[in-house]
Amino acid sequence: QELIFSGIQPTGIPHLGNYLGAISNWVSLQNTDTRRKNILYSIVDLHALTLPQDPNILRESKKKMATILIACGIDPRKSVIFEQSKISEHAELAWILNCIAPFGELGRMTHWKSKLHTDKNIKSPQDIESTSGLCLGLFSYPVLQAADILLYKATHVPVGDDQIQHLQLARDIAEKFNKKFNPIFPLPNPILVSGSRIMSLRQPTQKMSKSATSDYSRINLTDPPTTIALKIKKCTTDSIKGVSYDPTERPAISNLVSMYAAVKGNSTTIEDVVAEHKDSNTLQFKEALADVIVAQLVPIQKEIERLESEVGYIEKVLDEGAESARIIAEQNLKEVHRVVGLR
Ligand code: TYM
Repeated sequence: QELIFSGIQPTGIPHLGNYLGAISNWVSLQNTDTRRKNILYSIVDLHALTLPQDPNILRESKKKMATILIACGIDPRKSVIFEQSKISEHAELAWILNCIAPFGELGRMTHWKSKLHTDKNIKSPQDIESTSGLCLGLFSYPVLQAADILLYKATHVPVGDDQIQHLQLARDIAEKFNKKFNPIFPLPNPILVSGSRIMSLRQPTQKMSKSATSDYSRINLTDPPTTIALKIKKCTTDSIKGVSYDPTERPAISNLVSMYAAVKGNSTTIEDVVAEHKDSNTLQFKEALADVIVAQLVPIQKEIERLESEVGYIEKVLDEGAESARIIAEQNLKEVHRVVGLR
């Protein structure tokens, strides 16, 4: 039987990259052929702790994330939405997997290496030991992610392509576990939306990210239309005239073209977008792009507002989600305990 699992960190408001790369796909998976399919989407708050968080803001962001996911179309009657930390089995399975996870491979994870590079105090491997900024949890972050997936014996994991490396590690860990103990874990397969990696509006060679310092580098799903128009208007382009698609020579405009195609959806291709805008200049194209983004996001924003006015609804969804997730998690962790010899 198919089981779909995915997660999102509750650090800040999700952006258009999260939406086009993951959330919109979560919604369509839920709406196609729901027979014999379990779907779980987790707000991964334990992962958020790997970087410094303000406790009150974290609490609020989790609720906001649940609200936004539902407003985007995740239907709690079809998909289980829950907070990772409510199911303590995630952390426990992560520990057990930590004891078989390959240390060297973890050190090669892009996630870890990119954090090493951004910490100015680290110039040599020895400095890692003395640095105060990085914690052990950040290093073993992908093992917790593997635990999230394997705890439910997920068969499919819809993610953006930046998560492929983590998914490969989850497969490696599952294989190792299956060989060493008993073959209890299916190997999880990624589900990718092609061409959906959305880049920063400021530095088109970096992905759009919640943690980038400039808010002008991303479109947050809650940005009002005027902000969206302004961010798109001000975003980086190049000095070449017109609209074309060439990610190497023209990364910035190409990013806008893919965004346009992805937001329009309905199998709109890059070629369609370029053809449609062959006579536009950059400014006209940016205006058209802002319009399609606004048209996509305004209904979601109205729904967020409506959900926020329903007192207690989100809490109820999250409580019920945790109940459903717990049933699977408890049963599978018991099995893990048995096969590794803990009981
Ligand atoms: P997170 O919270 O960074 O991102 C959530 C999802 O959004 C996708 N994404 C993007 N897609 C396209 N363009 C972008 N610029 C972009 N930025 C983010 C991500 O690929 C992701 O699918 N480690 C995960 C959370 C996680 C998880 C899991 C995912 C924890 N446990 C188990 C799957 C299964 C993360 O930090 O995602």
